[in-house]
Amino acid sequence: MEFSQAKERVKELHNLLHQYSYEYHVLDKPSVPDSEYDRLLHELIGLEEEYEELKTPDSPTVRVGGDPLSSFEKVEHKTPMLSLGNAFNEEDLADFDRRVRQGVGDNVSYVCELKIDGLAVSLRYEGGAFAQGATRGDGTIGEDISNNLKTIRSIPLRASEPLSMEVRGEAYMPKKSFEKLNEEKLERGEEPFANPRNAAAGSLRQLDSKLAAKRNLDIFVYSIADVGNTGITSHSEALDKLEQLGFKTNPNRQKCDTIEEVYSYIKHWTEQRTELPYDIDGIVIKVDEFFQQEELGTTAKSPRWAIAYKFPAEEVVTKLLDIELNVGRTGVITPTALLEPVQVAGTTVSRASLHNEDLIREKDIRIGDNVVVKKAGDIIPEVVNVLEERRTGEEKEFTMPTHCPECESELVRLEGEVALRCLNPKCPAQIREGFIHFVSRNAMNIDGLGEKVVTQLFKEKLIEDVADLYQLQKEQLLELERMGERSVTKLLQAIEASKGNSLERLLFGLGIRHVGAKAAKTLASVFHSMEGLQKATKEELLAIDEVGERMSDAVITYFEQPEVVELLEELRSYGVNMEYKGPKLVQAADSDSTFAAKTVVLTGKLEILSRNEAKEKLEALGAKVTGSVSKKTDLLIAGEDAGSKLTKAEDLGIEVWSEQQFIEELKKQ
Ligand code: IVH
Repeated sequence: MEFSQAKERVKELHNLLHQYSYEYHVLDKPSVPDSEYDRLLHELIGLEEEYEELKTPDSPTVRVGGDPLSSFEKVEHKTPMLSLGNAFNEEDLADFDRRVRQGVGDNVSYVCELKIDGLAVSLRYEGGAFAQGATRGDGTIGEDISNNLKTIRSIPLRASEPLSMEVRGEAYMPKKSFEKLNEEKLERGEEPFANPRNAAAGSLRQLDSKLAAKRNLDIFVYSIADVGNTGITSHSEALDKLEQLGFKTNPNRQKCDTIEEVYSYIKHWTEQRTELPYDIDGIVIKVDEFFQQEELGTTAKSPRWAIAYKFPAEEVVTKLLDIELNVGRTGVITPTALLEPVQVAGTTVSRASLHNEDLIREKDIRIGDNVVVKKAGDIIPEVVNVLEERRTGEEKEFTMPTHCPECESELVRLEGEVALRCLNPKCPAQIREGFIHFVSRNAMNIDGLGEKVVTQLFKEKLIEDVADLYQLQKEQLLELERMGERSVTKLLQAIEASKGNSLERLLFGLGIRHVGAKAAKTLASVFHSMEGLQKATKEELLAIDEVGERMSDAVITYFEQPEVVELLEELRSYGVNMEYKGPKLVQAADSDSTFAAKTVVLTGKLEILSRNEAKEKLEALGAKVTGSVSKKTDLLIAGEDAGSKLTKAEDLGIEVWSEQQFIEELKKQ
C-alpha cells in the first residue's frame, strides 16, 4: 500500500476502532463481534509497523501497551487532588447536612454516588486528545502512569470534542477480572492479591504497560477538575457532559433533595452492594450546584461540600483452627488466632490478633470454636466473641506454654504485666524480630528487607546480629529466593545509605528498652553522639524532661553490656554514623515560635507531611507532642479520618487545625 493510501486507511481504522471500543467498554453495547475488532486492530498494527510515522499517541494500538519504562515521572497536579471527609452513621450525615445548610441555606440538592474502591486518577486532555494520566500521589504530586491508563479501554484516547481539560475518576478492577487474575497467580504459584483495589494499584504501578493491559482494569470518572471555563454549573451537569464526551460515568447516581433521601439511597446500596460487579466501600454525597460548592469551599484536604459515607465494619463467623504463638522483639509472647479463611470487608482473613492470655480467658476462646471476626477497612481483624451455642464438646481450651516456643527457656510474667515473656537475650526469635525492627521505617529505614528475606538470612547464617548487615555481599544475596539482580542492588544501596542516618534512628533501631522513637530523638539531640550518650550518668539522664527512672536505668544497663560495646564498635568500623544531625534540642522557654511550650496532638492521616515529619518539626520548635487529648492539650492538628480525638478536642474546646493551617503556620516560623 502506498503511503497516502495507508494514511487514509489508518484514519479510517482509528475512527472505527475508537467507535467499537466505546460501544463495547463505555456503553456496554457492542455493535460488532470481538473478532471484527481484533481483525481491524491487527490491520492497524500491520500498517503502523510498515509506516512508523503513522503511529500516533492516540492510536487504538496503544491499548495493548508499549515498551516498559524504567521509572515513572513525577506529575504536579495543577488543581490538588483532595480527598473526602468521612461519615460513619446517620448522625455524621445529619451534621454534614446541617453544616451545608448553615453555609448555603435550605435550597440545596445533593448528588449521591457509589464510592468505587479503586485508585484515584487524573486524566489530562489537550485539544480532545488524551495527553497524560497520573496517580493521586500525595494530592499535589503524583506519578505519570499514562501508558498504563491508555490500556484501560473505557478511557477515551480522544474525547468527542476538542477540549483541553483534566478529568478525575476512580480506576478499578472488576470483581471478575480480579478472580481470574488470582486464579492465574495461584496456578503459577504466586501470592494472590488481597483484594481488587490492591490488584488495581499493583497493575497501574507496573512499569511494563503490556502487563497492565492484561489486567482488564476499568474506570468511572466523576469530575472535571478545571470546570471553570466550560459553562457547566452543577455536578450533575458535569457528569452528563462527561458522558457526552465519551467517558464512562457510574449510572447508579441519584439526585436527592433531602438528607432522608440520602439515607434511603445509602440503605439501598448497603443491601445491594454485593450484587455489583465491582467493589464499593461507601457512598459519596456531593452538593450539586457549583456556586454552592464554591461558597462552602474546602479545607486543606477535603471539600466542605462533599462527604464519604463509609460502610460499617463487617463481621463474619468462621472457625478458629489453632492458636499460634509469636515471640516479639522484647520477648513478649503474643497469641494469634489461625482462622478458616473467610472474606470480610473485601479481604480474605485467616489470622486475627488475640493480644494476650487474659483476653483469651475473658472471652473463653477455645480451639475449634466458631467465632465472630470483625474487620473494618485496613484495620487488623479481631475476634469479637465465641458462639458458645455451637460448641460440640470437641473444642480444646488453650493454655499458654511455660516455655518459649523458639528457644525453650522458661517464660515469666513480670510484675504488673499481662504478657508472658521470654527473657533469654539470645533467643533467636527475639534477635530476628530485633533485626526487623532495626531496619524498619522509623529506625534505619532499609527498604527491601521483608520478613521472608530476613528469615532466610538468619537461616543461611548470613547474619547473626545487626552489624552483619553491613558486611553482606552481593553474591550472597543473589543466592536467596526472590532476590534478583535489581532488588539486590537496591537493597545494597539502601544499606549503604542507612550508614548516613542521624543518630536517633540508630538509637531507636537498637531497641533499648523503654526508648521509643521519641525518646531516641531526645537523647540524640541532648547528647549529640553515641559516645556522649555512652558516657552519660544517671543524673544527666534524669535531668532531661522526658526521661524518668525506668528509662535512665534501661539506658545505663544497656550500655554497660560488653556485647553492646562490641556491637557499637563493629558498627562504627563499618562506617555507620553515630552523630546527631538534626536541630539541637530547643528548650521550650528559649523558643519564640507559635508552638513553643505548647502541647500538641496529631491525629488522623496527614497527607503532606508524614506523621514523623510533623512531629519532628513541632519538637524542633519547642512543642511537646503527645498521643492523647486531655485538658492539657493546647492544639490538635487533625488529618483525614480523624476520629475520637477530634471529637474529644471539640468537646473540650481545644483549638483544632487542619494540616494545611499547620503547614501555613510552619512557613511563618
Ligand atoms: S469525589 C474532592 N466521587 O474516594 C474529592 N471520589 O477520599 C473528590 N472515590 O480518593 C472525590 N468514588 O478517588 C469521588 N464517586 C466518587 C468516588 C470517589 C471513589 C474515591 C476518590 C478519593 C476518595 C475520597
